[in-house]
Amino acid sequence: MTAEEAAEMIPNGATIGLSGFTAPGTPKFISEALAAKAVREHEAGRPFKINLFTGASTSDHVDGALSRANAYNMRAPYQNVPDLRKRINAHDCHYFDRHLSEMAQEVRYGTYGDIDFAIIEAADITPDGEVVLGCGVGNIPTYAKLAKHIFIELNDKLPKSLLGMHDIYLPDDPPYRREIPIFAANDRAGSPILKIDPAKVIGIVRTSSYDGVKPFTAVDEVSKQIGSNVVRFLLSEYKSGRLPKEFLPLQSGVGNVANAVLYDLGESTELPPFMMYTEVIQDAVLELLKKGKCTFASTCSMTFSDATEEKLFADMDFFHDKILMRPAEISNNPEVIRRLGVIAMNTALEADIFGAVNSTHVLGTKMMNGIGGSGDFTRNAYLSIFSCPSVSKGGLISNIVPMVAHADHSEHSVDIIVTDQGIADLRHKDPVDRAREIINNCAHPMYRELLTEYLEMGINGRGGQTPHTLQTSFAFHDAFNQTGDMRNTDFGKYV
Ligand code: COA
Repeated sequence: MTAEEAAEMIPNGATIGLSGFTAPGTPKFISEALAAKAVREHEAGRPFKINLFTGASTSDHVDGALSRANAYNMRAPYQNVPDLRKRINAHDCHYFDRHLSEMAQEVRYGTYGDIDFAIIEAADITPDGEVVLGCGVGNIPTYAKLAKHIFIELNDKLPKSLLGMHDIYLPDDPPYRREIPIFAANDRAGSPILKIDPAKVIGIVRTSSYDGVKPFTAVDEVSKQIGSNVVRFLLSEYKSGRLPKEFLPLQSGVGNVANAVLYDLGESTELPPFMMYTEVIQDAVLELLKKGKCTFASTCSMTFSDATEEKLFADMDFFHDKILMRPAEISNNPEVIRRLGVIAMNTALEADIFGAVNSTHVLGTKMMNGIGGSGDFTRNAYLSIFSCPSVSKGGLISNIVPMVAHADHSEHSVDIIVTDQGIADLRHKDPVDRAREIINNCAHPMYRELLTEYLEMGINGRGGQTPHTLQTSFAFHDAFNQTGDMRNTDFGKYV
């Protein structure tokens, strides 16, 4: 059928689960037809909103189109599209920002209600219901199992040779759950295909499209500096013997900084080849695999730009046994992350002087993207590293603040903070020592004096182990809101 015919079968109020994780693996056409239907329905004066559950972010074909059409009632667990961000912050869409590893099991536990439709992007499908997925898995094993009806977008740009690059494992739910049998990043736990009930399939839409991931821009100076600081830190840990000689699997977040870190790791001649146990792999990883610097990548999605995706498809014989795509609840599984000793590298919006991190809320109130997998990895990693530029908006914002205006990761989980200025090692340090380390090594010099003033005010004031001065904790954010520049902070205003 056509995407439009499929969209016609989806009613107002339906709950839909999509395959994929970031743009790859995410269906692209029924969502656009659904957005067009929503516009028509709204113009005719009828309500039309759906609930959409995914693996993570999607693409403009989904979150962009459906947000512009104001077609979301509920959305979970992660997004990164400006049009949807606006809807969420304007309360037009109920957004549940969840740890990605937990979404599938929460849906199975029944907290999200029924799944009416699953939409799956497939590279291949057999008549008895064996589906070869595309370049991302997400939560589709759960959504497809629970859905009343299934649509498939069969994408002819996806080679059938993707068969074998997926590892579909669905854990039993408590009290019957067993250990997940992954003891090294390259262990296979499940099946190369997604088995679905063919009786549920009510339509197949033939499509032809790459995933449309944009290539990376040239790495800027700040990202380069952060990248080289992360590599310097890992190297010193390795040389000191605090990391095993075989090294440990890496997780790396998304974005330019993450890509820069991986390129830098690839350049290092002193670090041994490594594996990745992560939720997304970006362009840099394909090069590292080709070079042999990365020997294996376990992921939920291959978030490659179209050019890199083409390179992969042209060289499948080489890459086929070096990448395994798993469901989000396995790629991000706390049990496996803790067992393998993953080194987690994620990005912060802001960190505070005591080591808490805000990954999600701009100036404490506006949703940016969501926590994504950062919590899954941070809490359970062997080593948890957060990086961010020391300042944003040309220095008007310090990304090191007295107290984060929204806390996603507490100081109990964060080991290392890295900015373009340097590295703060928070391990085995009490709150005041952590604060001095972060101010001196990570804050931009133009903010160090203000941050030290805040710290000393706390130490000399009411004291306590973590010496915040609560009436001034958000003075940086207040100064930005009032004057547009955190450098205008005046603690005297509040005490
Ligand atoms: N206060 C206000 N605005 C800030 C800010 C702060 N402390 N820090 C950054 N910003 C602004 C930047 O100026 C930029 O604005 P612009 O788009 O107008 O230029 C924007 O926020 C993005 O900043 P940037 O430094 O480019 O961030 P990024 O692309 O590296 O993303 C996160 C950083 C935190 C938003 C992103 O990593 C994320 O969503 N993380 C949570 C999910 C996650 O970690 N997943 C992990 C595994 S994939």
